[in-house]
Amino acid sequence: MLQTPEREAIARLWARKVEQDASGTPQAQRHRNLEPVSAEFLCSLAEGIGAKRMLEIGGSSGVSTIALAAAARAAGGRVTSIEIEPTRQAEARVTLTRLKLDPYVDFLTGDAASFLPETGPLDLAFIDCEKDDYIPFFDMLHIIPGAIVVADNILSHSMTYYVDHVRSRDGVESVTLPIGQGLELTHFAAPR
Ligand SMILES: C[S@@+](CC[C@H](N)C(=O)[O-])C[C@H]1O[C@@H](n2cnc3c(N)ncnc32)[C@H](O)[C@@H]1O
Repeated sequence: MLQTPEREAIARLWARKVEQDASGTPQAQRHRNLEPVSAEFLCSLAEGIGAKRMLEIGGSSGVSTIALAAAARAAGGRVTSIEIEPTRQAEARVTLTRLKLDPYVDFLTGDAASFLPETGPLDLAFIDCEKDDYIPFFDMLHIIPGAIVVADNILSHSMTYYVDHVRSRDGVESVTLPIGQGLELTHFAAPR
């Protein structure tokens, strides 16, 4: 579960995003963050399944990183957070350090495409980057039976192509949850 300082940090990041959207801040300068309700869900999900090996693609300034790191703290796990934009990730590092969540996170700066081939097996992955990259990055994940992949913006960006793709994989159960911008939760069934 998220603790009060973590919820407050997420609320601050979200308030800035909303203000930037409302004031017409140029797109390149805007912070795009995960909705607080989705962060709450992500943390509970990761903690609930006891995920130890977690990875996120598109950490930005850190809302989803806070959520996953809080779950890692509870489960004795770790999060690898990949972000291509160094200043966004630098802010996330400061925030996570202030929240004392930094011991649970390995930050990687750069294009996920270059890191994913080296990534080990995962219990949980979170995809929140450019929409054209969702499918290639999903296919590069080292998913183990029982693992879960969560992807954001499924409803806001009508990402039926991603939904169709993940649901075409053998042994997969997948559902679109109307939480925040829409989360696709894809579960790789464990052998019975
Ligand atoms: C919607 S934001 C992520 C929000 C973040 N998950 C949060 O909760 O605050 C998308 C992020 O993905 C990053 N990104 C886009 N393409 C990427 C790539 N190929 N590798 C790593 N990060 C990428 C962008 O720089 C941007 O910060």
